[in-house]
Amino acid sequence: MTHPALRTRLCELVGIDYPVVQTGMGWVASAKLVSATANAGGLGIVAAGTMDYAQLESAILETRERTDRPFGVNLRSDAPDIFERADLMIRHGVAVASFALAPNERLIKKLKDAGLICIPSVGARRHAEKVAGWGADAVLVQGGEAGGHTGEVATTILLPQVIDAVDIPVIAAGGFFDGRGLVAALAYGAAGVAMGTRFLLTSDSPVPEAVKRIYLGKQATDTLRTTQIDGHPHRVLATDFTHRMARTNVLTSLPRAIANALRFKRLLGTPWIDLIREALSMRRSQELSWSQVVMAANAPMLLKASMVDGRPEGGVMSGGQVIGVIDEIPSAKDLIDRIVREAESILERLAPGPGEAG
Ligand SMILES: Cc1cc2nc3c(=O)[nH]c(=O)nc-3n(C[C@H](O)[C@H](O)[C@H](O)COP(=O)(O)O)c2cc1C
Repeated sequence: MTHPALRTRLCELVGIDYPVVQTGMGWVASAKLVSATANAGGLGIVAAGTMDYAQLESAILETRERTDRPFGVNLRSDAPDIFERADLMIRHGVAVASFALAPNERLIKKLKDAGLICIPSVGARRHAEKVAGWGADAVLVQGGEAGGHTGEVATTILLPQVIDAVDIPVIAAGGFFDGRGLVAALAYGAAGVAMGTRFLLTSDSPVPEAVKRIYLGKQATDTLRTTQIDGHPHRVLATDFTHRMARTNVLTSLPRAIANALRFKRLLGTPWIDLIREALSMRRSQELSWSQVVMAANAPMLLKASMVDGRPEGGVMSGGQVIGVIDEIPSAKDLIDRIVREAESILERLAPGPGEAG
């Protein structure tokens, strides 16, 4: 029987066995990875930010075919067809909606009214308070050591701040990889952990083997946080390419960003009118400059070059500082089993039964 401390509010809320979440990483969180996580008792989340509507529908159907356990979909709340995507998720009975950027109150209400569990990701206490006020069921808080778009405050500081500020379950992300981290997060008052980089480096993730090997060879100090990719701080592996990017200015990086924005548009089949509408809404809602708006489509294409095309010399590899403590590629199931076993043995050691203390 699972240790009672591991049966958290998150397990009850979503109907999963263990409080372990595989996050929605663009190009990485595929039906195979998500269903492997779900079948192992965790919560897997499909990454929809890099999919068009039809690709999202087939990813949901494929995940459903591979598992009868609950799973989630990570949405970009500024997508022009966000409400159609919400309808799609409702129609196919997706359990959890996760959001890369803060969603709005209307979107949360629509999904919740249809029975979905809404779990926005936040990087600051005030964002957690805001989404909790809008009715979010739980919140994923991501510390600065995390891979992908990230803030600067470390998980150990941000997590207790957010836990003290909201009453809903808080999921800790940024730097987690083992059972010790899970128990530590529970000790802070979190309802579970979410991991990106660690799940990217499993045999169920679709990332090319050669790219996975690059991650394995990196130290904890081999990442950098740069705004040069799409205008927002983004943690990636430090490579010659990212060092060069970090040195360029907006004027020299803009032509590449425009080319990538157009490629991304073609890939997702986005009509011009939607692209313009999205750009205007991003500029307004996130108060971005025009160059930042243009660059917004840059990150997905640079990530695709590494994660899908296997060309890291011309792309970025998002990854957290946790790469410094990861040195092998287990299956998602072996990873979750190991984390749970390790957490249970730590919990038993910390609170031995009567007469066992020593
Ligand atoms: C390759 C990669 C792609 C990511 N893409 C997304 C995304 O599309 N949406 C999102 O909400 N977060 C994204 N993230 C952030 C992760 O979901 C997660 O919060 C983060 O990886 C947690 O930190 P860790 O890497 O230390 O585990 C991405 C992270 C990585 C490493």
